[in-house]
Amino acid sequence: MSNDQLELPSYLHHTDEVKHRLAEIRERPTVMSLSGLTRRFESAEGSITALDAIDFEVRAREFISVIGPSGCGKSTLIRLVAGLDTPTAGEIWVDNQPVSGPGADRGMVFQSYTLFPWLSVKRNVMFGLRMKGMARSAAQKKALEWLDLVGLADFADHYPAQLSGGMKQRVAIARALANEPRILLMDEPFGALDAQTRCSMQSHLLKIWDAVDITILFITHDLEEAIYLSDRIVVLGAHPGRVVEVIEVPVARARHPDQFLSGHFLATKKRLESLIYDPETHSKRRSERMSPVAA
Ligand SMILES: Nc1ncnc2c1ncn2[C@@H]1O[C@H](COP(=O)(O)OP(=O)(O)OP(=O)(O)O)[C@@H](O)[C@H]1O
Ligand SMILES: [Mg+2]
Repeated sequence: MSNDQLELPSYLHHTDEVKHRLAEIRERPTVMSLSGLTRRFESAEGSITALDAIDFEVRAREFISVIGPSGCGKSTLIRLVAGLDTPTAGEIWVDNQPVSGPGADRGMVFQSYTLFPWLSVKRNVMFGLRMKGMARSAAQKKALEWLDLVGLADFADHYPAQLSGGMKQRVAIARALANEPRILLMDEPFGALDAQTRCSMQSHLLKIWDAVDITILFITHDLEEAIYLSDRIVVLGAHPGRVVEVIEVPVARARHPDQFLSGHFLATKKRLESLIYDPETHSKRRSERMSPVAA
C-alpha cells in the first residue's frame, strides 16, 4: 500500500508525550543561536548565495537536524558554526559568546573518516586531551572511558585500518566527546556507511546522546534518519539556502526502529518530501546561482 492510501495523522498533531517533551525543551537555556546568517561565495563566474539570512536557536540537550537538497548549504552552515569559515553577514552565538573561530565548545564529526591512521584508537581519542596539556595517564583513562561508552574498549590498541566504517565513526564520536564540547556538530556522519550499519549507528548515537550532557546539530539528507534522531528538523531550501520550515518531530521517545512505520513518522516523512522535492521551494535556483558579482 502506498503512503497516499494510508490514513495518516497530520504531522502537526502531537501526542501528550510529544507535547510535554517539546514544551520542556523550549524552557531550557539556549545553547546556540544563528541570526541573519548569510554566506556568499564570489567567483569569476558570479556570486553564489549559499546561505541567506538563516535564523534559529538550539536548546540545551536538544537533538536538531538540518536537511535539504544537495547544494542547499548544509555543509556551509556547519562549517560556519564550527568556526572553520566566516559569514558574509549575521552572527552565531554559543553559550552567549559570539563564534569567531574554532573552539573546544564545539566538537565535529565529518562524513569522511578523519582518524589519524598512524595512531591507535586509544591515541586518536587521547590526541585532543594531550594537546590541551592533560597528563598521559589521565588522558589514557579518559580515552578508555569514552571508548567504553561507544562500545569499543576492546579495540583501544587497534589501528584505524583494522576497523569497519561504523567503528571508525564511533571512534570519531568518542574523540569529539572526549574534549567535552557543549555541542556536537555532525555533517552526514553515517553517509558513507551501508544501510544496516547506518541503522545501528543511529540507534547507537541515540544511546550516547542519552548518556551524555550534549546538544547535537546533525546534518543529513536522509529524511528517515532526521526523523528518527531529532527533536526538531530545520528544512533548508536551495539557491539561496534558507529555512523553509522548522518541524517539531511528532514521534515519541524513546525511539525504536518499529516507529519507521508509524503514522506520525510517515506523515512527517511525507511533509519533508513535499518540502524538499517541491519545485516551488527551489524556483529561484538558476537565477540566484549565476547572478553576476556586483561591480
Ligand atoms: N568554497 C566555496 N566556493 C564557492 N562555492 C562554494 C564553496 N563552498 C560551497 N559553495 C557553494 O555553496 C553551495 C552550498 O554548498 P554546500 O557544500 O554547503 O551544500 P550541501 O547542502 O552541503 O550539499 P551536499 O548535500 O551535496 O553535501 C553550493 O552551491 C556550493 O557549490
Ligand atoms: Mg554537504
